[in-house]
Amino acid sequence: MSKNIIVTGGAGYIGSHTVVELLAQGYNPIIVDNFCNSEKSVMDGLEEITGKQVTLFEGDCTDKAFMSQVFSETNPIGVIHFAAYKAVGESVEKPLAYYHNNVVSLLVLLEVMQEQNCKQLVFSSSCTVYGTPQKLPVTEQSPTQKAISPYGNTKQIAEDIIKDQVAANSGLSAVALRYFNPIGAHSTGLIGELPLDIPSNLVPFVTQTAAGLRNELTIFGNDYNTPDGTNIRDYIHVIDLAKAHVKTLDYLTGKSNFYDFINVGTGKGTSVLEIVNTFEKVSNQKLNYTIGTRRPGDVEQIYASVDKLKKVLNWQTELTVEGALRDAWNWQLNLNRKDIKTQGIS
Ligand code: NAD
Ligand code: UFG
Repeated sequence: MSKNIIVTGGAGYIGSHTVVELLAQGYNPIIVDNFCNSEKSVMDGLEEITGKQVTLFEGDCTDKAFMSQVFSETNPIGVIHFAAYKAVGESVEKPLAYYHNNVVSLLVLLEVMQEQNCKQLVFSSSCTVYGTPQKLPVTEQSPTQKAISPYGNTKQIAEDIIKDQVAANSGLSAVALRYFNPIGAHSTGLIGELPLDIPSNLVPFVTQTAAGLRNELTIFGNDYNTPDGTNIRDYIHVIDLAKAHVKTLDYLTGKSNFYDFINVGTGKGTSVLEIVNTFEKVSNQKLNYTIGTRRPGDVEQIYASVDKLKKVLNWQTELTVEGALRDAWNWQLNLNRKDIKTQGIS
């Protein structure tokens, strides 16, 4: 039986690592991407790592005719839907673009899945749905809170749309994975996070600063009510996150009219200063940083309860923050060697 899996956004950061893990577990990933936030060179990296040429359909997931054709030609058993815009700040400036891309792509996908009898869906959600949690660690029973950005709202809307489609007895079985903070890169240094603009996320900013592409990192506040005063997050190695998707597909096999959501993190909180100190240790670099003011909208601290992840998927993360930072640095050094300009450097 075909084990074709459509991976929308498969050329992106998390998608590309998931493609590697899918191949390793006997699935046949088919990438659908319009490269609005990724580079074609990712396909070369994937081929070098896996020794296989991964099928690519270049196009827009909001284009129903295109998506119908992709499904007709490939007859997938399931979909992992990564394709979305993801910059929180930009979503406040361009809400319509975010609602259009993130919500319409999901609607089109669900319509085509229904029309073509494709029943398994793994959806990229985010811990952003919990807002500022009342209690830590955050369990799946923790209440969701009204999103503070259009981006966050697209994740909440998307989860609701999927839940409603399952409730309508469409035969769909779906899991929304609520990611905590993915960091790191493939251990080969051949794929990794490739910000096309100035990174807003911590780790790419750290590695670019150490590589001399940025003057200094600003730590957004050290006056929080945490042990060292800086924010705490649950940083998960992107390879572990990729593996969680494959486990979820396995879990969905044979299910019908089923919906659930699962936290995907390590269960451990790490502060911004701890990230900086660990990075300095593993890279043997002194990082130029300064303490700045708080970034509006930042949650003081959040980390996952991973009880459900362990119970439902019978799996837990295996890699460390230290390893992730080492891999991120190795990836950055490779980018510099290849003189890749698409790092928000004009
Ligand atoms: P990314 O931007 O690296 O990858 C997304 C990919 O989707 C890109 O290759 C982009 O070109 C493609 N894409 C976007 N819109 C498209 C469209 N309409 N048609 C075809 N392709 C399209 O992002 P990522 O970090 O890999 O994130 C993947 C998913 O995970 C997103 O849904 C994101 O919201 C979610 N997520 C990411 C994080 C994070 O910190 N990276 C955290 C929580 C959730
Ligand atoms: N930080 C800095 N300096 C920087 C960048 C980040 O100090 O230059 C700090 C932030 O203040 C925060 C931590 O590093 O405390 C992590 O910041 P990121 O931007 O890397 O990640 P966030 O936790 O803010 O955002 C992530 C995802 C979003 C998602 C959000 C939900 O990137 O997509 O979690 O909480 F919406």
